[in-house]
Amino acid sequence: MRVLGIETSCDETGVAVYDSGAGLLAHRLYSQAAVHAEYGGVVPELASRDHVRKVVPLLDEVLRAAGLTGPGAVDGIAYTAGPGLVGALLVGAAVGRSLALAWGVPAVAVHHMEGHLLAPMLEPDAPEFPFLALLVSGGHTQLVAVDGVGAYRVLGESLDDAAGEAFDKTASLLGLPYPGGPELAALAEAGNPERFRFPRPMTDRPGLDFSFSGLKTFAMNTITETLSASTDEARDRADIARAFEEAVVDTLVIKCRRALDQTGLGRLVVSGGVGANRRLRQAMSMLAADRSASVHYPRIEFCTDNGAMVAYAGCQRLLAGADEPLAFGARARWPLESLAPPGEASA
Ligand code: KG4
Ligand code: ZN
Repeated sequence: MRVLGIETSCDETGVAVYDSGAGLLAHRLYSQAAVHAEYGGVVPELASRDHVRKVVPLLDEVLRAAGLTGPGAVDGIAYTAGPGLVGALLVGAAVGRSLALAWGVPAVAVHHMEGHLLAPMLEPDAPEFPFLALLVSGGHTQLVAVDGVGAYRVLGESLDDAAGEAFDKTASLLGLPYPGGPELAALAEAGNPERFRFPRPMTDRPGLDFSFSGLKTFAMNTITETLSASTDEARDRADIARAFEEAVVDTLVIKCRRALDQTGLGRLVVSGGVGANRRLRQAMSMLAADRSASVHYPRIEFCTDNGAMVAYAGCQRLLAGADEPLAFGARARWPLESLAPPGEASA
């Protein structure tokens, strides 16, 4: 089965064609980062408008790259229907659902985080079920026990900011441009990890939930105090970035270790935008080795938002006969646990 995937939940327009036999045929991504950079964060209305501008040209490009044209080219269409920005989601949903109607093929609404969770399935070392997934994106931080497609138990999640959001906010305090996660990570490379020690929130009590907003406040205070008496601003900023990154990575590792021990699972998936972080990957690989577990990541470009993960996740449901009614919608919030395995009714 050949599936066209469309992702427009936030500030990236992603389109891809996945074939259940041949694998990924083509994918394209357009990032709106430059549009939002001057505002220091995503402006929802601008995001929607830019998706409108880009989604059809990208669709054309992807179909051409895959050597496909017109009706009959694909067997189904998958679009992200949530969670995310409703206006942005509606663009992909409207285009995806309409195209499916025009082409006479089924359409399926995909949960964005299920897309992230299944993204490692596109790699040669795809994990078998069951596995533990750490989802770390700009909007979510979750630890999920995954028994199969659509069989998800959320073991812990952030009570406030997501890990990516904490990266972005701290980066902004350090004067770095949006989206700050990768910029902060690059700055941290030159930093001294011994100089500052940031807290590891909620690691001193049992449980698998996270909290990152206090870390951002700690960073803000450290930045104010340090820079007001600074003799070498570049070094101070790098040292602070490094201490912040160490604290986030360490916190995520402590919680993952706990989750592996509690569940007894032997496979770990790390996915979502922050999963592109080099130090996080290093630390997770060490943890997995220490626990004799295998660790699986999507390729770097599929850690952040993309159409390939949506095409893949949608394909699993289309294979089981999914077909949305013509009345489509978008959901700002959509609990991952309300999903059901393909072919079964969801909650
Ligand atoms: O998954 P994603 O593309 O979007 C959401 O679903 O939210 O994740 C984007 C987040 C942003 O917060 C971005 O700063 C962060 O992932 N990010 C990183 C890195 N690359 C992306 N954070 C830390 N280190 C990175 N290398
Ligand atoms: Zn995402």
